[in-house]
Amino acid sequence: MDRRNFLKNSLIAGGGALLAGREIVALEAAASPQAAGAVSPAEIAAARFPKGFLWGTATSSYQVEGAWNVDGKGELIWDRAAHTPGRIKDGSNADVSCDQYHRYKEDIAIMKQLNMKSYRFSASWPRVLPEGTGKVNQKGLDYYSRLADALLAAGIRPFCTIYHWELPQALEDRGGWPNRDLANYYADFAAILAKNLGDRITVWAPFNMPTDFTRNGYGTGWAPPFKSNVDQFLKAAHTVNLAQGMAFRAIKAASSKATVGSAYGMEPVYPKTNSEADRAAAARWNAAHNLYCIESAFRGTYPKAFIGEIPYEAMGFRPGDEKIMKAPLDWVGVHYYCRLLASDSSNGAPPEVSSHDPYAQIRIELAGEGPKTDSGLEMWPHGLYDLMMQVSRDYNHPIIEITETGGVFMDAPDANGRVADLRRIEFYRQHLAELARAMADGAKVRAYHAWSLLDNFEWGSGYTQRYGLTYVDFATQKRTIKDSGYWYGRVAAAGRLDV
Ligand code: FCB
Repeated sequence: MDRRNFLKNSLIAGGGALLAGREIVALEAAASPQAAGAVSPAEIAAARFPKGFLWGTATSSYQVEGAWNVDGKGELIWDRAAHTPGRIKDGSNADVSCDQYHRYKEDIAIMKQLNMKSYRFSASWPRVLPEGTGKVNQKGLDYYSRLADALLAAGIRPFCTIYHWELPQALEDRGGWPNRDLANYYADFAAILAKNLGDRITVWAPFNMPTDFTRNGYGTGWAPPFKSNVDQFLKAAHTVNLAQGMAFRAIKAASSKATVGSAYGMEPVYPKTNSEADRAAAARWNAAHNLYCIESAFRGTYPKAFIGEIPYEAMGFRPGDEKIMKAPLDWVGVHYYCRLLASDSSNGAPPEVSSHDPYAQIRIELAGEGPKTDSGLEMWPHGLYDLMMQVSRDYNHPIIEITETGGVFMDAPDANGRVADLRRIEFYRQHLAELARAMADGAKVRAYHAWSLLDNFEWGSGYTQRYGLTYVDFATQKRTIKDSGYWYGRVAAAGRLDV
């Protein structure tokens, strides 16, 4: 289950105030410069990126690697989910997906052709440790070693996400993330990666979207392992925060060249009305969602995400945990997909997320003023500017990497085999213009990763959503660089958007 499905379900679960329970599908996308919220042509023409800016793309192991049971890989919670009828929208799975495990050289050649300088991928935990702990599967480790070598040979920086939702099923069978022991197993896994690959990989993100996978997996039950108990979510998120701090130290101990940040899914959140209650609700959701795992790292504390006191007991918090969580991240990774509107639901308004989270009592909604991508998400480039300013202000101007931004546009090859996905070009052009403006206003952004290099398996949506700069024909594995890919390659070479 991805963030858009998370949002979609939260809307539908609450009675569908916005979409009356309908699926959000293929709404008209009109990403033109005249659309609501669009960036002006003058701003686009003025945008400049410094020499040395790291242009990149991102993927994750389960979504692109395939080879689900090859060379000793263990089972993943997403393997289990996708092999269970009814869990994935189109009944598909990622057993093969883009088969990057066997085709990584071809994919790196595409990156090189597009002038890419960074590739954010993730390491599959059960590929390296089939049981999650214990014996290392050398063949799994060797794959990431080959991948890192090939990237470096192509002049591309390998950026490794250590956990992009790839929990070994064996560890879920031991209680999953609510089990505090997982922090130790996870830190051991991180150390194994850093020890074996740290001579070549220097950029590590412990977690992808930690509040999303813990809330969706254990709090709302919308993603594997499909548990829905808010106290289990609090425990899972606390284990992850401990794990983040422990991994930070384990990676640094194993590799002197390592820099450690993380990849946080963030949505700028605005109060639905100007009432005090809605403003407080927006601040709570910002804390509960955007800051929950950053604050724990930088400050060793939990932010004000709750109506009442911090529920330490439900979290399983022990004295001294604040020291374990604390880690002075070297940089902050941010994904941006959409903005949110928040309102207070403590007075009995339809509960939405709060039906799952009595501690926060917030109703969240997608905003709908701007044009829509083909998944129904609003395109709102200005949110990226706001987010950059917010993170820069809150954490004293840290180095930022954009770890993901992208949109679903379902364009397919035409009769000549060309994929003219002009709306995706407009999407990136406008987001990048807002990013350049944030940089001109002081945000220290050093990298941008487009989601994604390839069309791939989009979690609960299976293959029904295409995010790639490259079209993948999943029947033949043929890759076709889309017009957006060629455009992005020109941007990377020129450092400007009017290319
Ligand atoms: C992000 C996920 C990524 C992908 C994109 C579309 O939330 O990190 O794996 O699904 O959404």
